[in-house]
Amino acid sequence: MNILVTGGAGFIGSHTLIELYHAGHTAVVIDNLSNSNPVALRRAAELIGVPEIPFHQIDIRDRQALEQLFAHHTFDACIHFAGLKAVGESVAKPWEYYENNIGGTLTLLDVMRHHHCKNIIFSSSATVYGDPAEIPITENCPKGTCTNPYGWTKSMLEQVLMDIQKADPEWNVVLLRYFNPVGAHPSGRIGENPNGIPNNLMPYITQVAVGKRPELGVFGDDYDTPDGTGVRDYIHVCDLAAAHVAALQCFTAHSSQITAHSSQITNHKSLIYNIGTGHGYSVLDMVNAFTRVNGVSVPYRIQPRRAGDIATCYCDPAKAKAELGWEAKYGIDEMVRDSWNWQRQNPEGYPEP
Ligand code: NAD
Ligand code: UD1
Repeated sequence: MNILVTGGAGFIGSHTLIELYHAGHTAVVIDNLSNSNPVALRRAAELIGVPEIPFHQIDIRDRQALEQLFAHHTFDACIHFAGLKAVGESVAKPWEYYENNIGGTLTLLDVMRHHHCKNIIFSSSATVYGDPAEIPITENCPKGTCTNPYGWTKSMLEQVLMDIQKADPEWNVVLLRYFNPVGAHPSGRIGENPNGIPNNLMPYITQVAVGKRPELGVFGDDYDTPDGTGVRDYIHVCDLAAAHVAALQCFTAHSSQITAHSSQITNHKSLIYNIGTGHGYSVLDMVNAFTRVNGVSVPYRIQPRRAGDIATCYCDPAKAKAELGWEAKYGIDEMVRDSWNWQRQNPEGYPEP
């Protein structure tokens, strides 16, 4: 298939490009580079073994640019990563988050339907479950109350996509609810490159390990968890990338090419999958694994809980395995090894393009 990858220069997008090409697909990337660096695309092309990955610096809110793009390309599907994702920033700048993530997606969907491209995989998040009603979380778990505007953009866009699909059954919508992506390509050439102080645990750990920050703050040790620190379902970004390739079969399942794995998904056209490993690890599990595998110590200090955090969040990934034939291959050791490999080789992230 020829895939439009929005936000393809970002962390998850750049890793997904490699999996797409290795599976025999081609891709065209659009990204406004607001949170990414085109060097990631150059390095992804090197890893794939192609001279370059077609790229257009386009903002998904720019209707005219999207129209031009679709006038010159035929896409079988879109994998839609583009969006702003910093939780704290979304609390300070809600309008910017709703306008970029929701406004941008509405424009993208409108142009897609005008050009009869009605297959989309959307990057959703475990955040839509709020404080989950059940652990492990299945896709039947009701959505919850999000604690920040970023989370609401994901929850609202899920609704938008499902409503559009209901009104026009030609649409095929796949909502992938990612748990906590970490790790990097094993080569260490591409990885997560956060701006400023990292919000998320793993990039904070690697920046402490590389000496950029003095110590990790552990946000609370009095949760109802085995060691008192928060428990999450960390997933290696290469596994997450592979889940997108597996999800593409949802689009062929509706044609005559029904594969063994996809035979169960023929009757639904709005499909929701949890993408995690099904294992919960605490903050201290991650710190200890990092030190054990990499031989680098990570000084930490217990701090108060972070507002909006929950104690435990991990999924039941059985639906993705049963219907997509996808399951995570990498464990915690590969996650901490590859996160460190990337950070060690690129202490300042990507170089200026
Ligand atoms: P990222 O910031 O690295 O990638 C997102 C990309 O979108 C960036 O390259 C950015 O420049 C681009 N972008 C943002 N707004 C745009 C716009 N208006 N037009 C064009 N491009 C735009 O983030 P990521 O970690 O790769 O996440 C990808 C997607 O997955 C996002 O939608 C994110 O919300 C979602 N997600 C991420 C996580 C996570 O922990 N990383 C978890 C759950 C869901
Ligand atoms: C956060 C976001 C969530 C988003 C997800 C994407 C919040 C409330 N939630 O989830 O919306 O989809 O990232 O990856 O921000 N921790 C520390 N010290 C740190 C950083 C984190 O102890 O410096 C702890 C947290 O308290 C948590 C765990 O590490 O227990 C994971 O945190 P994080 O990586 O931020 O992910 P989430 O909180 O799961």
